[in-house]
Amino acid sequence: MPDSKTSICCIGAGYVGGPTMAMIANKCPDIEVHVVDINQTRIDAWNSDVLPIYEPGLQEIVAEARGRNLKFSTNVDQAIRESNMIFISVNTPTKTFGVGAGRAANLEYIEKCARQIASASEGHKIVVEKSTLPVRTAEAVKRILSTSSRNGATFDVLSNPEFLAEGTAIEDLLEPDRVLIGGESSQAIQKLVDVYARWVDRKRILTTNLWSSELSKLTANAFLAQRVSSINAISALCEVTGADVDEVAAAIGTDSRIGPKFLKASVGFGGSCFQKDILNLVYLCEHFGLNDVAAYWEQVVKMNDHQKSRFSRNIVKTMFNTVSGKRIAIWGFAFKKDTNDTRESAAIHVCRDLLREQAVINIFDPKVSDEQIRNDLRDVMINGSGELSATDRKLIEKNVHVASSKQSAASGAHAIAVLTEWDEFKTADFETIYDSMQKPAFLFDGRNILDHKKLAGLGFDVHAIGKRIEASIQA
Ligand code: NAD
Ligand code: UGA
Repeated sequence: MPDSKTSICCIGAGYVGGPTMAMIANKCPDIEVHVVDINQTRIDAWNSDVLPIYEPGLQEIVAEARGRNLKFSTNVDQAIRESNMIFISVNTPTKTFGVGAGRAANLEYIEKCARQIASASEGHKIVVEKSTLPVRTAEAVKRILSTSSRNGATFDVLSNPEFLAEGTAIEDLLEPDRVLIGGESSQAIQKLVDVYARWVDRKRILTTNLWSSELSKLTANAFLAQRVSSINAISALCEVTGADVDEVAAAIGTDSRIGPKFLKASVGFGGSCFQKDILNLVYLCEHFGLNDVAAYWEQVVKMNDHQKSRFSRNIVKTMFNTVSGKRIAIWGFAFKKDTNDTRESAAIHVCRDLLREQAVINIFDPKVSDEQIRNDLRDVMINGSGELSATDRKLIEKNVHVASSKQSAASGAHAIAVLTEWDEFKTADFETIYDSMQKPAFLFDGRNILDHKKLAGLGFDVHAIGKRIEASIQA
């Protein structure tokens, strides 16, 4: 059983810190869990009925523990002082400046946390790296903690990377494939093991050295993303040969050595982590002089970029080589279903490409706000240049419309492009939608979720990833 005095603080109330701590608080009612963030708006949302992130099942878990042993606030120093286990769950984005720009992880938020922990701590603390970090970051964290401590505090540092996926975070936290804990002190490791062992089978709690734990997280994401890029690469070959990518995926997935998961061809992977973590891995390999290894992994990201632009190019080519002034309904803007997260969503890149072709885009996503969509498009148009050009500003103002339903987005449109696999798109009333559209009514299924044969039967000109719809229908 864990020490009854275990008390937890988590710095960073984001997509990981919020759900992870809510689950710990839920499963360990005797452990005080205090989640802190510098973002007051985010904390206010965690304390309200409209949580800052959409995640199925999260509301219930938070409601059960909040006010009992789960607390959200901006009192970072106080939370550090009052707890003996401190999780760091802040963002670790790709660096956008200086050495390693565009590749290396920006560790400034991690360092700030380490310094704040050092200055606010008294007694002994276990510091847990929950954020995804380059291998050997714990070395720097330990050094900062030991040299900046003001009150004679002592520290153990553990690595405990998070493997949850958005949209299924609660399921993933409830029944993780594994919990990984890396560290040097067996006592500190045991304390954290004891927390997870309240609901996770002990056999699924793996303990390793610090560096294996840090590197395993980057490697897991690299392998997962590699599978998506691999099937997407094959999807291009399917389109020119008449093979069907879903049939190929099903056929290879039955091989128990390959397995069926993560073989869904798509418009490209998105999300806050795959690209950033692979680029981080690439940077690390280059740093250690492993240039061929770096080039190998970089190809996964290049393939993903290729898939996204291939999709938008295909739309333009199919629609008689011009989409200028044409209305295109964009169904889905989040990077996957069941989340309101749009970070690195393929939709952002496809919309940018279509806007630059002067298309008029009507975007509908059931969970993403109008403001978020416009901010994302603004950011992608700026793309490091610092300023939005007058032309791009005009395009965003005049050519971007955010619709309140999938039907209204499609009404009067020349095409629909499905960019997120929301369930509600599968059950749309396509007969009515077809009647409301310009003809020919094009449909580009970037997620292969629709009944293509049926839609072609209704009159749609259907295009999907890794399939030749017309050919299969004529046959
Ligand atoms: P996020 O941006 O949603 O949340 C990070 C939070 O940290 C923000 O609210 C920010 O205000 C806060 N923060 C930053 N510096 C702070 C400081 N000094 N003090 C207090 N708060 C501070 O990020 P996220 O998606 O939760 O990801 C966090 C980490 O977890 C990243 O390293 C990411 O790679 C990793 N991760 C993310 C996922 C995921 O599904 N999003 C899954 C596994 C791992
Ligand atoms: C991913 C990993 O799955 C998590 O284990 C990890 O913790 C997390 O990254 C992280 O470190 O942030 P996440 O990005 O939330 O989780 O979601 P995934 O389900 O992995 O999907 C990532 C992207 O790949 C999405 O755009 C999704 O649509 C796409 N994808 C996924 C495909 O195109 N095809 C697939 O077969 C699977």
